[in-house]
Amino acid sequence: MNDAPPLLSVEGFGLEFRTRSGTVHALDGVDLAVRKGETVGLVGESGSGKSVLSFALLGISDRAARVTGGRAAFGGLELTRASEADLEAVRGREIAMIFQNPRTALNPIRRVGAQIEDVLRRHTTARAAELRERAIAALREVNIPDPERRHAAYPFELSGGMCQRVMIALALACRPALLIADEPTTGLDVTTQAAIMDLIAARARATGMATLFITHDLALAAEHCDRIVVMHAGHVVEAAPTAALFAGPRHPYTAQLIRATPAAESTIDALAAIPGNLPDLRRADLPACRFRARCARASARCDAPLPRLAPPPAHAVACWHPLDEARCA
Ligand SMILES: Nc1ncnc2c1ncn2[C@@H]1O[C@H](COP(=O)(O)OP(=O)(O)OP(=O)(O)O)[C@@H](O)[C@H]1O
Ligand SMILES: [Mg+2]
Repeated sequence: MNDAPPLLSVEGFGLEFRTRSGTVHALDGVDLAVRKGETVGLVGESGSGKSVLSFALLGISDRAARVTGGRAAFGGLELTRASEADLEAVRGREIAMIFQNPRTALNPIRRVGAQIEDVLRRHTTARAAELRERAIAALREVNIPDPERRHAAYPFELSGGMCQRVMIALALACRPALLIADEPTTGLDVTTQAAIMDLIAARARATGMATLFITHDLALAAEHCDRIVVMHAGHVVEAAPTAALFAGPRHPYTAQLIRATPAAESTIDALAAIPGNLPDLRRADLPACRFRARCARASARCDAPLPRLAPPPAHAVACWHPLDEARCA
């Protein structure tokens, strides 16, 4: 096991949004760690806080956002307290992100090669001819055919799959130490999906890049992640090595997710099988356990603050009535 401190370490992190219709308690007490070379899956229903967390880590939250507690550190940098200049130096260079919607993340009126060069120019000392060469190499690395020609293409001239590859080329161009990939393959056909996941995995193997892989797709997470972190309504409810999580989920929510995902292609939101909805995160009286109203195991004990998650690599669960530990894990 790797004893080095995690590359990314989030502890007790909380964040809320002040909106006209009330305060949205989007994240509360979130713990998360990603080590060098590790791929960690972040899974949970729509609205559970996966994207909000990733934006907060990069310091690019909505203006209405306010950090309510905890810390997030990347290497020696306290992300929650860093200056805009420090964050600017890290973003795109050491921490890269693939956004949930590639078409909105790419600039529609700038050629894709120029967009990659912009990132390289910001973070390296490379000059014009070398920038072009490196941008073409970055496109080639993500298996874009005819990269010299595609360098001059606008996003609208490329298919969804190609745009997604450009996004990945953009993210990987500076050889980041950490990649945050938010639904990098959603909406793509299965073959393209597999090719893109393989690309990311190959880069991780080659450079020791750490990956935080955000997805609705439990089967995809099972296939590609070393560990999985399960979120529900702004809480991390369970975190475990992938095999242990699937062999013996301990949180009732995780157990339901896994039980309800029988087919490889099912995604969490396609499931009607999990009763109830996420609680309204604007409620001032959110229960200590936000799964309580949906949980068959709930009791008066669940009114107490949730037990703190054990640090990785332990199989950690934030529940007063967890299911038995797997015997076969
Ligand atoms: N700018 C904002 N202002 C107010 N509330 C917000 C804002 N951004 C996100 N939220 C709320 O925070 C919660 C978490 O949203 P988030 O987008 O992180 O979910 P998610 O897990 O990424 O979902 P999905 O799987 O659909 O991408 C939701 O309740 C959402 O409505
Ligand atoms: Mg999201």
